[in-house]
Amino acid sequence: MNIGIDRLSFYTSNYYVDLKTLAEARSVDPDKYYIGIGQEKMGIPPPDEDVVTLAASAAYPLMRDGELDGVELLLFATESGIDQSKAAGIYVHGLLEMSPRCRTVELKQACYSGTAALQLAIGFVARNPGKKALVISSDIARYELGSPGEATQGCGAVAMLVSANPRLVAIEPESGYYTEDVMDFWRPNYRSEALVDGKYSTMVYIHALLESWKQYAELTDRTLTDFDRFCYHIPFTKMAEKAHQKLSRKLKSPIEKAEIAGLLEGSLRYSRITGNCYAGSMYVGLASLLDTDGEDLTNKRIGLYSYGSGCVGEFFSGVVQPGYREVLYADQHRNLLENRTELTYQQYEDIFNYGVPVDGGEYVFPQYKTGPFRFSGISQHKREYESLVD
Ligand code: CAA
Repeated sequence: MNIGIDRLSFYTSNYYVDLKTLAEARSVDPDKYYIGIGQEKMGIPPPDEDVVTLAASAAYPLMRDGELDGVELLLFATESGIDQSKAAGIYVHGLLEMSPRCRTVELKQACYSGTAALQLAIGFVARNPGKKALVISSDIARYELGSPGEATQGCGAVAMLVSANPRLVAIEPESGYYTEDVMDFWRPNYRSEALVDGKYSTMVYIHALLESWKQYAELTDRTLTDFDRFCYHIPFTKMAEKAHQKLSRKLKSPIEKAEIAGLLEGSLRYSRITGNCYAGSMYVGLASLLDTDGEDLTNKRIGLYSYGSGCVGEFFSGVVQPGYREVLYADQHRNLLENRTELTYQQYEDIFNYGVPVDGGEYVFPQYKTGPFRFSGISQHKREYESLVD
């Protein structure tokens, strides 16, 4: 029985900063961002978006299409949780009016937790083949103003319906995974911006890739030529390209730049203009690949590498299913990405510095352009959400 991703919907905020604007403010050559790290825009969440609204808005098309009826497992993966106790997924469960007969939990392991959630959901479906699970990865990537990581910020969420006989991508059973206790990127509870040892993090990312691949290859006897496309975790698009180059060299099949573009470019398009979405990042790449690759990917094998600092890496694979194009949300994704509003540098900094009040008072947040749900205010330390759906 095939199990995997049946539907895939992506959402990001309606606001972005062009990295040329950031480059000017930081007196940096824009090509350092555009070419050096391969990023053009970063998605910025307004004060009335958080990981809950990003997630609920990503999953809304599934609700609208009746796909959430009977879902009994909701796994919410995030690095940017909003509460030390209550799972953000429970707010989403409420906004989406899901059945009370549902297990809901939040998972954390930096950018890796979306993959842990997907694999757990697959296990759930294997045991209950008639049932479905909803996996949502939702994050806001935030670094200090003026820090090297700043240009890689972004935000977004990906909602995936996991089922037997999936219509999009069947996930293959073999997987290589690797854990090591390292401090390359972390965020203590008292900080709202990540701390990162940037160069070191890129090295650990590659090391975990090589280790994960080694296990995957031993389990499957596959080589790189058994794949038609690759989707990497994308902190910035250049990282994915470099990772593939390193893996190819390590396997003694060095690869030309043009060839890498053919294998990866489809997966990089959305991330280049939204920025890092942490736990959702690789799945934003998958949505981008399925939506925008010019070739028919039916029956093609995709190599998937997920990485979360701290660190866990996993290499696995999926096969694109016949008829996949009929169940994509490609038009919706294109509409969203083409109709965002550009922020000036000052608007960006004002939004960045707008902190959620922590004094337990009553606050109503200014209304920006959001998806179908917004974070409307806070009262007595309780977050309030509003549905804009009729
Ligand atoms: N034109 C073209 N290229 C230029 C340029 C110009 N004018 N100026 C610089 N560049 C190139 C540099 O040569 C460099 O390329 P190479 O890496 O190929 O040498 C690239 O632009 C970046 O320049 P720097 O190395 O000088 O950049 P930096 O040190 O200021 O920042 C970074 C790079 C450390 C990765 C930083 O972006 C960062 O800290 N990012 C956050 C951490 C991160 O994303 N890590 C990735 C792995 S960890 C992970 O994946 C988990 C996660 O999501 C966070």
